Amino acid sequence: MSFKERFTQDYIIEKFTMGEIPIAEAFNKLFNLNEVNINHSYERRIYREERTLNLQPVENKDKNIEEGEKLKRLLEEMDTLIGLEEVKKIVKDYIAFIKVQKLRESYKLKTSPVVMHMIFKGNPGTGKTTMARIIGKIFKEIGYLKGGELIEVERADLVGEYIGHTAQKTRKVVERALGGVLFIDEAYSLARGGEKDFGKECIDTLVKAMEDYKDKLIIILAGYRDEMNYFLKTNPGLASRFAIQIDFPDYSLDELVQIAEIMYKEREYILDDKSKHYIYRILSEIRNKEIINGNARTVRNLVERSIRYHARRIIKMENISRKDLIYIKKEDLLGEEGTDEEMPCNRDAQCR
Ligand SMILES: Nc1ncnc2c1ncn2[C@@H]1O[C@H](COP(=O)(O)OP(=O)(O)O)[C@@H](O)[C@H]1O
Ligand SMILES: [Mg+2]
Repeated sequence: MSFKERFTQDYIIEKFTMGEIPIAEAFNKLFNLNEVNINHSYERRIYREERTLNLQPVENKDKNIEEGEKLKRLLEEMDTLIGLEEVKKIVKDYIAFIKVQKLRESYKLKTSPVVMHMIFKGNPGTGKTTMARIIGKIFKEIGYLKGGELIEVERADLVGEYIGHTAQKTRKVVERALGGVLFIDEAYSLARGGEKDFGKECIDTLVKAMEDYKDKLIIILAGYRDEMNYFLKTNPGLASRFAIQIDFPDYSLDELVQIAEIMYKEREYILDDKSKHYIYRILSEIRNKEIINGNARTVRNLVERSIRYHARRIIKMENISRKDLIYIKKEDLLGEEGTDEEMPCNRDAQCR
């Protein structure tokens, strides 16, 4: 097909897609490409400009049309997460960028490499792992990753006990994560112990893996904001390889309450009027008391504990109704038989 024919074909399809010509006319024109005259001065100019680019023929350009549904569902799942607006925006920007690169590729236009390694900075329970998991699924859906699974590790999974052991251990983890997301929690701890520590061997191996598997894997390093900033400062080579750095701020009181409501809804429970009121107070107290506040993990612990207390309360009843099964009462939030027991804590480690 000549350039002129190809251009004319694209032009007709575009006119039809924009609703400017009906389907019958589009078909008619497509079968008689040679008779179509591109008259409009704007289109003539585009024709001249594109010609100077010396573009290659195009084959499978409609391929991207179907993928939609699943991606839409994943984006909805991401949007139901409370807050996290900055991350959501960045993810959407990258989706657009990758999609455009893919489309350009299908038109045999030049593409820019997309490196998706990221740093997540924030306190525990601010949604880092949750977001990383969704990112894996989304980037699988748009064809950037093959598998999209998330593998979460920390220092002990990567660092070994003798020279050479760490590189071997780290490589194994990387290989397991290929095609998906490798999420390294508390990554700053890899710099612990300085030059002599095996953490350095791990970082070197990761850097090499990032070169070797540029587009086969997303590595996400996560940890407390200050510790991660310090870690990156002491590893300038590493910092420059992570173009995407995202802050996960602590949640506000309102956000924490919304997160609690979502968690109950997912589990098919409802807070009754009094407990709805009361959960504000509890979360506000936790927020003021804890050093690490604005934390969704605290909310999850509170929700799960109240569900256990709810069961303990209603099992003693003679006739348990559907309503009893669904509604959480103030005393379920309070703890043991309505006494004001110690609040659920922030960090999993301390809770165990
Ligand atoms: N924005 C949010 N909306 C709803 N639930 C959230 C949100 N952020 C975190 N959670 C929930 O809080 C818990 C802890 O989140 P997680 O992603 O493990 O935090 P992190 O990895 O930062 O420690 C998970 O159960 C998660 O589902
Ligand atoms: Mg986590």
